[in-house]
Amino acid sequence: MTEIVRDGYERIADVFAEWRDRIEGDPRRDWRNDFAARLPDGARVLELGCGSGDDARELAQRFRVTGVDISSEQLRRASANVPDGEFIQADFTALDLPAAAFDAVASFYVFNHVPRDLLAPLLADIHRWLVRGGLLLAAFGVSDTDGWTGEWLGATMFFSSFPPETTTRLVRDAGFELLRDELVTFREPEGEATFQWVLARST
Ligand SMILES: C[S@@+](CC[C@H](N)C(=O)[O-])C[C@H]1O[C@@H](n2cnc3c(N)ncnc32)[C@H](O)[C@@H]1O
Repeated sequence: MTEIVRDGYERIADVFAEWRDRIEGDPRRDWRNDFAARLPDGARVLELGCGSGDDARELAQRFRVTGVDISSEQLRRASANVPDGEFIQADFTALDLPAAAFDAVASFYVFNHVPRDLLAPLLADIHRWLVRGGLLLAAFGVSDTDGWTGEWLGATMFFSSFPPETTTRLVRDAGFELLRDELVTFREPEGEATFQWVLARST
């Protein structure tokens, strides 16, 4: 599945950027600001699925940012966008990072590309990569979708997600205390979309 996602984002970089620009009411800035306000200057922040690096660029104003993306084209854009950032081209569901290497992990609209059976192991990895008390900020899909493969923005794409109560349980079970856990609806170009935003602290 991750190959489908990688190949898709290699192909649709321009279309995706243009589609994203047409979203109305994206709450990411508010959540990113809340996340950032809870971190000290110089914190080590890992962004999973950083895409073209727009959030990484904002975060890099105060933090040491490491971005991970599976798509070489997205990472090329991110590196140009954030000259001070460190970027890794990898599938974060199969990534070996040292324990306690980060103070915070952020991911914006990415985990709905992760196959269901890989979400709990991914959350466990994130917990291990974080220091005790480290922060996790993520937007999860909310539909009960075991796995959907089809055409999206002109490429074949894979999506998957759990209902919110399951995601909440998985985050808790991975060793996090939930600070905020909210459903937020906004307008994508095709119509309304809802995501589950989670801000959590590792215990
Ligand atoms: C919907 S885009 C979001 C990009 C960026 N976070 C944003 O909000 O604009 C999803 C991104 O996650 C990346 N991605 C998806 N699954 C991944 C995986 N398993 N490992 C690394 N990157 C992944 C894709 O390549 C793509 O850049």
